[in-house]
Amino acid sequence: MSKQFALSDLVDDRPDDGVFRINRAMFRDPELFDMEMKHVFEGGWLFIGLSTQAEHPHDFFTGFIGRVPIIVSRDGDGELQCFVNACPHKGVRLVQKKCGNARRHVCPYHGWTFDSSGANKNIKWKKGGCYSEAFDSENHDLAEVARFGEYRGFLFASLNPDVPSLEEHLGEASKLIDLLADKAPNGLELVPGRVTFTYAANWKMQLENCADQYHFTSTHPSYIRILEQRAKEEADEVVKSSIGASDFWTENASGVTGGTMSFDHGHVLNWGIMPPSSAIADFERAEELAEEFGEARRNWMFNMRNLTIFPNMQIAENASSQLRVIRPLAAGLTEMQTWCIAPRGESDEARRFRIRQYEDFFNPTGMATPDDTVCYEEAQLGMAEQERPWLQGHARGMTATVEGGNEYADMIDVKPARSVLADAQLCDESLFASYYRAWAERMKEVVA
Ligand code: FES
Ligand SMILES: [Fe+2]
Repeated sequence: MSKQFALSDLVDDRPDDGVFRINRAMFRDPELFDMEMKHVFEGGWLFIGLSTQAEHPHDFFTGFIGRVPIIVSRDGDGELQCFVNACPHKGVRLVQKKCGNARRHVCPYHGWTFDSSGANKNIKWKKGGCYSEAFDSENHDLAEVARFGEYRGFLFASLNPDVPSLEEHLGEASKLIDLLADKAPNGLELVPGRVTFTYAANWKMQLENCADQYHFTSTHPSYIRILEQRAKEEADEVVKSSIGASDFWTENASGVTGGTMSFDHGHVLNWGIMPPSSAIADFERAEELAEEFGEARRNWMFNMRNLTIFPNMQIAENASSQLRVIRPLAAGLTEMQTWCIAPRGESDEARRFRIRQYEDFFNPTGMATPDDTVCYEEAQLGMAEQERPWLQGHARGMTATVEGGNEYADMIDVKPARSVLADAQLCDESLFASYYRAWAERMKEVVA
């Protein structure tokens, strides 16, 4: 490597001095990007999809772990498996489709054939091939991904065998996945219609944005104005059909509007109090959920929650519910795949409502996503090398942060490493430290 980075030149983490800073180089440097791909994305657990994406025997879907193409396939016995989606012959990506159902996968180059359990079933013209014994004794199946696990229908995999258990990786953050899964007694599914888009900026812009409450009022004024307009029009209606702008920062008696939680291994939650309301699709089950889980837990299910499972999965639950998967392509280029994620078996009315609100806020065609991605791209311009490399975007909330949880975390029995309780204007940035500490942990062996 031509250049050496010291970790302390990239992440200036000095809690005793009240300092947490990030170097702009982390967003633009191509060598660092390659190291991130190898050690952050290909060196640890990554979210790869939902089990309902391959529900029946021989169903499959494809994706990537870092730069490595993978296929998740349910074999004939109903077992889910995860393979490197590359032909052992000359490396051609075996399956190009995003998803489907197939008992056999035939390589487009020389026709080697594999079944849905990854086993090689045919090497074209094998008999006439004059192969050596050494070749015959080799394994010609698809390579299994080293670690593969499921948590409540969420699938994770790691190319690196030397990682903690999935349970340990998710830790207490798994309880936030529970909150989503508990709402869906018949399981969670992706509403048909995936959206894929790219933006010309580093992947960490999206990583941060999901947990960045500070930008909301200044980046999305047009969305907020439309919500306010609708709220005015519906002022006299008993049943609200749209979330109001004020719903995003409902204040309780002690002035708390929400807060943040930071977990080990880089997972974070940014949340806001949002009382159960007919403007949220899950409202049809509000009473049922309170009976089953108690009122406090039910109320948490309706709170605005932006959850990041480091480094590539984000779930945004607000007016609707979105699953986002981050795939870095270059230091200054990122692909996003997003879906509306929903409980199976909800009523047609709830589903329709969920999708309409989803279209409102999310996607390149929605009212919020383009505002954000334009800011990412503008930020990327400002990441160019300069005299003062340190960003000042990770300092809010520093003195409001406490070790462990708080009374709201207790309601759902979750024990974060650190937490913040906030009013509408605190907009904690200290939770980002959790990302960069996990980043540094995965990079520590390669960065001096
Ligand atoms: S590369 Fe797949 S059969 Fe040749
Ligand atoms: Fe935003």
